[in-house]
Amino acid sequence: MQIGPLTLANRLFVAPMAGVTDRPFRQLCKSLGAGYAVSEMVTSRRDLWNTLKTSRRANHEGETTPIAVQIAGTDAAMMAEAAAYNIDRGAQIIDINMGCPAKKVCNKWAGSALMQDEPLALAIVEAVVAAAAPHRVPVTLKMRTGWDAAHRNAVTIARAAESAGVQMLTVHGRTREQGYRGEAEYDTVTAVKAAVRIPVVANGDIATPERARDVFAATGCDAVMVGRAAQGRPWIFREIAHFLDTGEHLAQPLVAEVRRLLLDHLEDHYQLYGEFTGMRSARKHIGWYVHGLPGGDDFRKRMNRIDDCRQQWQAVGDYFDELATHTDRLPPPAAGPGAALEEDAADIRSDACG
Ligand SMILES: Cc1cc2nc3c(=O)[nH]c(=O)nc-3n(C[C@H](O)[C@H](O)[C@H](O)COP(=O)(O)O)c2cc1C
Repeated sequence: MQIGPLTLANRLFVAPMAGVTDRPFRQLCKSLGAGYAVSEMVTSRRDLWNTLKTSRRANHEGETTPIAVQIAGTDAAMMAEAAAYNIDRGAQIIDINMGCPAKKVCNKWAGSALMQDEPLALAIVEAVVAAAAPHRVPVTLKMRTGWDAAHRNAVTIARAAESAGVQMLTVHGRTREQGYRGEAEYDTVTAVKAAVRIPVVANGDIATPERARDVFAATGCDAVMVGRAAQGRPWIFREIAHFLDTGEHLAQPLVAEVRRLLLDHLEDHYQLYGEFTGMRSARKHIGWYVHGLPGGDDFRKRMNRIDDCRQQWQAVGDYFDELATHTDRLPPPAAGPGAALEEDAADIRSDACG
């Protein structure tokens, strides 16, 4: 699969998730079978570019290419500037966020609100494409199906974006009004795919290999994008790849492998954020990894009280050592949509921007 001149390893993508898909997590997913990952959203507000948060997000050291950076905002000139800024820092693909349901982006309705203002959406796309074109950097767009059930205009925006030079579209199968509630639908993805010639990526509630297979078949999409189901299960990409290739399920990962993956993930995490901040922000990842495992809930509660990163790292190692005395492999995930998808949609943090 291609995005403009860039060839991707496969058709399984990690969704951008603010506060989750930082460089260590993206890199881990790529090493476990994801062909492509988009960074967490970077604001188009220049006054925030020097904050620690944004400079961490704009740091791609050691990441497997291609480097894709997502930008968000409501002003065409600022978005063009943000594209140029990130291209200067190594972005090889610029993704425009038109899916964010949260209000805090740029203190205004950005993200999915742009879908309500088609002329502004198009002006932004044109400005970003113009800024990226001299660098031969492709521009992609991520959106929802529309503002609400009565205004599902993804097809209109898709056509306009393609005419303006966008080279790939991702559609999260919910309206902005739905937030993360209800189920994703894929009919709009099918309609978008039929309406354009550029690659189309289906997203929303893809949590099992079977669902990935069915979404490919139903929509004719070029790739599928997995978000919440990869939280704590970054090996889902190789599971999907194996199932699509063979029709069979890969064995559950060995406990010893998950132990090593998670401990390495924590090391990378502490390195990016520093030990104190890293220890705190690692808690959510650890909680996702142990969700549904024997003694996992108790361990998560205990681990959340640890305030030192070395002790946290040690406790995680000890938990998996103990688990390995009972079983070689992780138990299969419980039937259902997966740990993260079971979270009450209202609990998804306010920076869940897409
Ligand atoms: C915690 C969180 C943060 C998110 N942040 C972003 C973001 O920065 N940009 C974006 O386009 N989408 C963002 N999203 C939306 C996801 O990319 C994806 O569209 C959505 O979760 C549906 O896919 P899933 O059902 O596979 O999770 C976020 C979602 C979550 C749960």
